[in-house]
Amino acid sequence: MNFQGRDIASIEDFTREEINYLLNTAKAMEPLAAKGSDMLKGKILANIFFEPSTRTRLSFEAAMLKLGGSAIGFADAENTSVKKGENLADTVRTVENYADIITLRHPLEGAAKLAAEFSKIPIINAGSGAEEHPTQALVDLYTIKKERRTIDGLKVALVGDLRYGRTVHSLAYALSLYNIELTLVSPDALKMRREVLRAIQNRIQVSETQNLEKIIPQTDVLYVTRIQKERFPDQAEFAKVKGAYRVDLKTLANAKKDLKILHPLPRVDEIAPEVDSTPQACYFRQVWNGIVVRMALLALLLGQVK
Ligand code: NCD
Repeated sequence: MNFQGRDIASIEDFTREEINYLLNTAKAMEPLAAKGSDMLKGKILANIFFEPSTRTRLSFEAAMLKLGGSAIGFADAENTSVKKGENLADTVRTVENYADIITLRHPLEGAAKLAAEFSKIPIINAGSGAEEHPTQALVDLYTIKKERRTIDGLKVALVGDLRYGRTVHSLAYALSLYNIELTLVSPDALKMRREVLRAIQNRIQVSETQNLEKIIPQTDVLYVTRIQKERFPDQAEFAKVKGAYRVDLKTLANAKKDLKILHPLPRVDEIAPEVDSTPQACYFRQVWNGIVVRMALLALLLGQVK
C-alpha cells in the first residue's frame, strides 16, 4: 500500500483496509521505538501549533527523533509572523521550504484541508477546532486492538463532550468501519454532532443516552473525554454541564472485568485518580501508543515504508 505524499486532513480519507495497514505498521514500529532507527535520517518534521498541546506535538517530535529525523516548529503562534497578520496559506508556503512534512493544529475547522491545498509537502491534521483529530483516532484504534486483540464485536461507549470534542468525531467515523455497537453518552447539550451521527448511523448500530451507570455493565470499551471548556461560546452554558460525568471506583463496581477505559487526555475531573491503578485503566498506555502510531504515519507518508 502506498501512502507516500498523502495528506491526513480527515480520518474519513481512509478505508478500513488502509487503517488496518497503518495499525499493522505501527505494531512493526514497537521494537524501533525501543531501540531507535535511522529510517528517516535527513528528514525534517515541522510542527506548527496554533493551540495548546502536550501529547500530540511531543509524540510527533519524539516519533521523528526515534526514526533518526529532526523536528522544528512552534508551539505558540503568538511568537511568529502570524502575530503580524500573516495568513495560514502563507505560513504553510513558508514552512514547506524548511521541512519534508508538516503537522498542523489550528482552532479553525477546515484548517488542515486548506493547508493541504496550499502545501507541496504532506500535511497532517493534529487537531482542527472542534472538527477532527484523525491521528488521535488511529492511536485510539491501535489501543483498542492491542488491549482487546480485536475491534470487531465490541460494545464501545463514547462519554462526555461529543459536541465540541474533536477526538470523538474522528473516532466515531473510524469505529463505524468496524463491526461494533456504539453508545453515545452525553448531556443533552453536548450530543454528538449531527453530521457525524448521520454518517455513522448508516454503517453501524448507534444509540444515545445521558445515563452512564445504565450502560456500564455491558460496555467493553469506555472512551471518556474532557468537557471542552474553551470551545463554549458562553461560559454559563459550560457551568451547566461541568462535572456531568465522573468515572470512579463506584462507577466501575458493575463493569466487566475486562472493560478497557481510554481517554485521549488531558483529564480534568472526569476520571477519578483512584481509577488509575485499576486493570481497566488504559489511558497512560494509550499515550505510549501515540509514539508508535506516529512513527508509522511519518514513515508511510515519507515513503520509507510501503
Ligand atoms: C485532545 C485534543 O487536543 O483534542 N488532546 C489530545 O490531542 N490528546 C483532547 C482534549 O483536548 O480534550
